[in-house]
Amino acid sequence: MNNFKYFTPTKVIFGRGTENQAGALVKETGCKKVLIHYGKGSVEKSGLLGRIKASLEAEQIAYTELGGVVPNPRLSLVYEGIELSKKEGVDFILAIGGGSVIDSAKAIGYGMVNSGNVWDFYAHEREASACMPVGVVLTLAATGSEMSSSSVITNETGWSKRGYNNNLSRPVFAIMNPELTMTLPPFQTECGCTDILMHTMERYFTSAGNMEITDGIAEALMRTVISNARILLDEPENYNARAEVMWAGSLSHNGLTGCGNGGDDFATHGLEHEVSGLFDVAHGAGLAALWGSWARYVHKDCLPRFYRFAVNVMGIADKGSLEEIALKGIEAMEIFFRSIGMPTSFHDLEIEPTEQEMKLMAKKCSTAAGGRKGSAKVLYEADMLAIYEM
Ligand code: NZQ
Ligand code: ZN
Repeated sequence: MNNFKYFTPTKVIFGRGTENQAGALVKETGCKKVLIHYGKGSVEKSGLLGRIKASLEAEQIAYTELGGVVPNPRLSLVYEGIELSKKEGVDFILAIGGGSVIDSAKAIGYGMVNSGNVWDFYAHEREASACMPVGVVLTLAATGSEMSSSSVITNETGWSKRGYNNNLSRPVFAIMNPELTMTLPPFQTECGCTDILMHTMERYFTSAGNMEITDGIAEALMRTVISNARILLDEPENYNARAEVMWAGSLSHNGLTGCGNGGDDFATHGLEHEVSGLFDVAHGAGLAALWGSWARYVHKDCLPRFYRFAVNVMGIADKGSLEEIALKGIEAMEIFFRSIGMPTSFHDLEIEPTEQEMKLMAKKCSTAAGGRKGSAKVLYEADMLAIYEM
């Protein structure tokens, strides 16, 4: 069992109608002027933006707004947000949306209270010393950014997609009303379920150690997401299924499923960020496309975990050698991904990276990770290329 730190300062307000508490929650922080940050229009169409503004007005909280965040959020809009917020005297950032909006809000938060170029943090050239408070109204269960220390930004110069983790950016509050996710297209819902699964799997597949309570929570979380992802295919308005997935999304990436097991692989994430940076695909779909190849490449180095996953999560019968069972578990996961409309190859993802592009992605992935990545098996640039080629 490994030592660990667990820090989750985010106040969670979960359930129907909770978005109407946004104004009161900002007021509690003592902040006076909000930047409302959102995406390309789903929050206007659903009427959510109007309800949030009404909630702020009811508490006499002033606000300005900046929409236009795109999936794989861009650095240029972050700069715009910083400039606008400085001009308007903003002291609180309220993200209404999914991971892209929340991550863009966190980046603006860093830019507001640190001098110099905010990209330096994402390029890992220096550390932020503070972050302006960020609150979240979540509309897409996926990234866990509503409770996490991470944000991921794409720099259009060189199409580098880079993550920066710092506890300073953990949101002050996260409003989570599962009903708000009912307007999602089925593909986005299932991309979200995939990302949620992957945040736990990245911690679960480790050769570092184990802690029974953590592993048990992780397995329950994975089984819950798999069964509710199936339900949501046919019943997108099933409140309980939406709620199970939404809470799983937060728990999957707030650190809980990594406590004591030393799990911090995140190689599939590293590989995927290069793919979505270069080809602008949905993050969850990119993860599903890569996972099977990663798993087959590393499984021998992490056999006890792959065996346990097969039996405890995928329901594979405990008959045969460890390796046979492990491979059946990987295959079952890929069948599950396909059953919810997720790709399990570049071909399914509808991209065709050339050999040169795969070499470039492997190089960028390795450089971003400081030369090596993974705890199920340590991967170097040549391993990364081999997985892309698979
Ligand atoms: O822009 P709008 O119109 O709002 O549409 C969005 C967007 O097109 C739409 N959407 C969101 N909520 C909706 C909705 N449409 C209808 N009804 C709703 N209720 O969904 C689309 C995708 O949104 P996006 O925020 O991009 O998705 P997601 O939450 O999956 O975020 C993906 C980004 O987060 C990063 C990913 O790499 C990617 O850039 N990640 C962030 C992490 C973190 N901060 O901890 C960890 C993750 O591993 C991940 O890397
Ligand atoms: Zn992810």
